[in-house]
Amino acid sequence: MKESIAISTDREALEPEYKYCLQTWAGGLDRFLSMQGGDDDGSYAKNSEAPASAITICKPLFLVAIQSLKLFRREEEMDSVRIADLGCATGYNTLATIDMVVESLRHRYIQECGLEPEFEAFFSDLPSNDFNSLFRSLPAAMLSDGKTRRYFAAGVPGSFYGRLFPKRKLHVVVSLSALQWLSKIPDEVLDKRSPAWNKGRAWIDGAKGEVVEAYAKQSEEDLESFLRCRKEEIVRGGMLFMVMGGRPRPEQPENQLGDPDSRAKHPFTTSMDQAWQVLLNEGLIDEETRDGFNIPVYMRSTEEVERGIKRCGGFEIQRIEYQKIVEHSEEKHEEWIKDPVSYGRAKANLVRATLRPIVETHLGPYLSEELFKRYENRVSSDTALLHKTCFYGVIIACAIRK
Ligand SMILES: C[S@@+](CC[C@H](N)C(=O)[O-])C[C@H]1O[C@@H](n2cnc3c(N)ncnc32)[C@H](O)[C@@H]1O
Repeated sequence: MKESIAISTDREALEPEYKYCLQTWAGGLDRFLSMQGGDDDGSYAKNSEAPASAITICKPLFLVAIQSLKLFRREEEMDSVRIADLGCATGYNTLATIDMVVESLRHRYIQECGLEPEFEAFFSDLPSNDFNSLFRSLPAAMLSDGKTRRYFAAGVPGSFYGRLFPKRKLHVVVSLSALQWLSKIPDEVLDKRSPAWNKGRAWIDGAKGEVVEAYAKQSEEDLESFLRCRKEEIVRGGMLFMVMGGRPRPEQPENQLGDPDSRAKHPFTTSMDQAWQVLLNEGLIDEETRDGFNIPVYMRSTEEVERGIKRCGGFEIQRIEYQKIVEHSEEKHEEWIKDPVSYGRAKANLVRATLRPIVETHLGPYLSEELFKRYENRVSSDTALLHKTCFYGVIIACAIRK
């Protein structure tokens, strides 16, 4: 199908952006990976429905885990109860999560110890996260009666694959819908001389074995780094609660979503590859630029997470399970079937919210927006897609520091 978007083909004018992209991919993603800040239609704050569903699904398990957590006494490990959300992004999800932890622990302290401790909440994400938007959306400043916000808030910039806090600092650590993001794209996946070169694909779902193996190896190393750091930072008896994108079965990791229908429809798969191909066909980018981009996300299985925790040691696993999340409500589905254009717009905003900062680093702002427009066009015009249901999977894991 022909795309109907007017574009400039002035390669000369775009050249500096190409040079910029090739330099910045080298090394890790720490400096530029983030969700899209602000609060416009393409922001993460307005497009975080799937992570919000993940929180709703894991909430009962999380509350049970908090109920069974050892309460720390003032004279022992704490002068305040310290909670960290790692990979907090911006918006409602992180604030609701911290509120939930503070409120349930506060009630327990009042009932079981007859005291109300002070709480500190650390919002942590990569330095490129829009911390300003996050802090602007915090509930009003804590009053002396603790009535508006019952915790002291602080931002902690840095990668959760490295140390973020002093030793034995934290009582509760949560990380929600963040650990599927790897620290880097494996080098061999971008290397055209390697058998693991992921030519013509933006992601690994359905990719050849060597590509998937390279991602799996990176994922294993990253999870290990994450756990080793948290092992240092969490006090004995403290809790690590993780929810991350995951797949239902250990076998066939190339089937990252565990469901062929989801594969057709997932925002990182078919339509994304087609959008890159359209940019290429139109002469706006060359093959090297297209193949130099990969989405640094890996969906682990419960077995992979369990193996990682056991190998790290120092944690007692309380629970690990896989849960399936339907992409959106039945009503929304019906609405979109009647209006594919608004479906395309919604999906394009979702990929803008999650991928714009890294796509912009690769292509520059102009071409990046052109890619998203073509993505929107593909999705709006592929009506068969609309009738499929898309599932996301999450792994929920809770462990106590021994
Ligand atoms: C999909 S968002 C989830 C945000 C939030 N936890 C929620 O549930 O809505 C993933 C977040 O993980 C962050 N992230 C990815 N890799 C990270 C890393 N290495 N260190 C810290 N944060 C990271 C991203 O910047 C992003 O804000």
